Amino acid sequence: MAVDLEKILRPVEHPMPPFEPKYMTLAGGEDMIIRQAKREEIPELLAYVEPLLHVERDYYDVVTARLYSELLAYYRYRVQDEYVLVAQIDGELAAIVNGRRMNADVGMSYHTLALRRGLRVGAHAFATKMEYHIDTMRQKEVLVVAESPIGFRRWMIEYKLEKRFEIPHELGGVPSWALTKELFDRARGSLIVGRRPVPDHLLKKAEAAIIPPSDPPTPPEDTLAATRAKYDSTGTALMLQRRKLTGKEE
Ligand SMILES: CC(C)(COP(=O)(O)OP(=O)(O)OC[C@H]1O[C@@H](n2cnc3c(N)ncnc32)[C@H](O)[C@@H]1OP(=O)(O)O)[C@@H](O)C(=O)NCCC(=O)NCCS
Repeated sequence: MAVDLEKILRPVEHPMPPFEPKYMTLAGGEDMIIRQAKREEIPELLAYVEPLLHVERDYYDVVTARLYSELLAYYRYRVQDEYVLVAQIDGELAAIVNGRRMNADVGMSYHTLALRRGLRVGAHAFATKMEYHIDTMRQKEVLVVAESPIGFRRWMIEYKLEKRFEIPHELGGVPSWALTKELFDRARGSLIVGRRPVPDHLLKKAEAAIIPPSDPPTPPEDTLAATRAKYDSTGTALMLQRRKLTGKEE
């Protein structure tokens, strides 16, 4: 009985071509590899993503809550035709992107999460997932939304995405935008960069282990105080009081 029910609950996946890993050199000179995450690597990703649930800044909390659920559903076979790509610098997790094949012609972009800031790792990871949809899956367009102003700047403005407001996106049912093949072709060589094949030693290092992010975004020490001005004396008093309560200060 239990086995039969699982057959109904677990969606039948359409065959999707594997993503061929690529790499690019970041502004700081480091090489970043982007590769497809294996299903068995998802629990590790969940552990690194979870702390970002408490970072309100730049909507990390909303994006993380949704991404967590998408990763978990993928791991436990409760979502159809999803894929997950990871970006690593020296083995270290720098970004996660995911999405799914909606049908043969249309892709659904889920999330982009940067775990290292200021290097455009999120922008490169997003470009790479668009490439997976357009070049590898040969889809005509990808439906995209943004939850944060930075996301809006990065996707809607930089790529000049087209409105598809009549289509509710799977992320919250908000109006969709589309990255078409034509827009993608225009961005080749500028927003979409990277090389293949990935040198063997770099790929082996990335596949050997996903090293936890060394400098991920963190929540403020005191969320209430952080909402006040930096030099607001009441805010500082609150932080001191909290430190005393937790035994960190005499
Ligand atoms: C949107 C996102 C993926 C973009 O990642 P990214 O391309 O690597 O860019 P960053 O977030 O590091 O930087 C974005 C801007 O903020 C600035 N910035 C913000 N916080 C920063 C920090 N701690 N260190 C350095 N730069 C920072 C950068 O200078 C950059 O400015 P620019 O646009 O003029 O280049 C990333 O901001 C993110 O994960 N945000 C939270 C989740 C989210 O919104 N995802 C997208 C959903 S639509």
